[in-house]
Amino acid sequence: MLLSILTFVLAGQAAAERPPKPIVLSSSGGFQIGGTIIHSPFQPNITLSCDHGYMEYFLPYRPRKTSLVMWHSSSTQVWQNRWDGGPGFKDLFLRRNYPVYLWDGPRVGRANWACEPTIYIPSYMDTANFAAWNFGPRYKQWWPDVQFPTASEDAWQQATSARYVEYDTKANVGLHARAAAVAADSGRVGKDIVYLTNSAGGLRAQLTATLSNTTNIKGIVTYESIGYVFPDNINVTAGKGGFGPYVVPVEQFKKLARLLAVQFVWGDHRAENMSSVVESRLVAKLINQYGGNAKVLKLGNAGLKGSTHIPFADLDNEEVAGLLEEFLGENGLDGYVDEGDDDGEDYEDEDENEEQ
Ligand SMILES: *[C@@H]1O[C@H](CO)[C@@H](O)[C@H](O)[C@H]1NC(C)=O
Ligand SMILES: *[C@@H]1O[C@H](CO)[C@@H](O)[C@H](O)[C@H]1NC(C)=O
Ligand SMILES: *[C@@H]1O[C@H](CO)[C@@H](O)[C@H](O)[C@H]1NC(C)=O
Ligand SMILES: *[C@@H]1O[C@H](CO)[C@@H](O)[C@H](O)[C@H]1NC(C)=O
Repeated sequence: MLLSILTFVLAGQAAAERPPKPIVLSSSGGFQIGGTIIHSPFQPNITLSCDHGYMEYFLPYRPRKTSLVMWHSSSTQVWQNRWDGGPGFKDLFLRRNYPVYLWDGPRVGRANWACEPTIYIPSYMDTANFAAWNFGPRYKQWWPDVQFPTASEDAWQQATSARYVEYDTKANVGLHARAAAVAADSGRVGKDIVYLTNSAGGLRAQLTATLSNTTNIKGIVTYESIGYVFPDNINVTAGKGGFGPYVVPVEQFKKLARLLAVQFVWGDHRAENMSSVVESRLVAKLINQYGGNAKVLKLGNAGLKGSTHIPFADLDNEEVAGLLEEFLGENGLDGYVDEGDDDGEDYEDEDENEEQ
């Protein structure tokens, strides 16, 4: 009973808050990309098309040039809604006229047509999810300032049950990066791609940039990336698992330095000596040594408190979005396709007229 009341209240709130303007799209859709065709060992004429990724897209009526490719590690849901059901980064950036792409890498989500047998073993992940997503130090022990609607059992249920199987193996990191590189080089995701990633998606996006043969990828913003790509000319030993370190030839690593900008973002509840934070600082330094533009952003230093592992779904995600807007603007990634620079005021005017 309490659950359904909470659900009702949350849904009611979302409907009552009138958005500042409508989201106006020219089109939306999706496509499969990358992957391969395998032949049956018993009957070579029988084939399976498999291991592709799935890209869903939403294209604003008056688009900016930069395509934001939202790359999850738990599920696309984290990009679609805030923890309380309010707008996620997908809507926040569609309202800002950025083309938005939601990516499911090979074998996850809507790309689960695998070339190899896969297995799902239920493993009581709720407890582990709570701490891994940094809602608090231990299960149901929330950080006092956490940007999550802690009183809503429904919000917690939504968060923990939205997960996909993740396949955190080294082979899967390569599989995802190769499919994403094909997608990036195809031109079907635009000529100015910025990857927004969460957690394990960060390693996959870094590797993608080292595999791409075009200049279509312009930037990467990782939210709490666990796992980094290193060049093979320093003493970093490659990891055996799915969280790096991932070592690539230095010539490939230098492709990360050719991006306009890279930003590794961390929440305020992450200690400076956490191994992934240390790695992010080292990789930023290496990228910059090769002439690149990489920075580490601690959200706490920007005044944001109580961030979770998935800050773009946090209750203060408008502020997180504001920081991303700054990043895009500073790096010249906020221009419009039609070259206008009036930041879409004409559409707001139209909306006001319709209301009167
Ligand atoms: C496989 O395809 C080839 C070429 O189309 C055909 O000649 C052959 O008969 C097919 N084999 C089987 C077992 O269907
Ligand atoms: C980039 O070029 C290399 C060398 O030709 C090739 O092996 C690789 O598959 C290409 N990458 C993509 C994403 O097509
Ligand atoms: C790597 O380690 C070897 C052996 O310990 C050492 O001789 C070398 O100077 C190290 N190289 C770098 C770049 O740190
Ligand atoms: C990080 O620093 C804290 C406080 O200085 C210390 O207690 C902790 O053991 C350190 N953790 C690691 C992984 O070094």
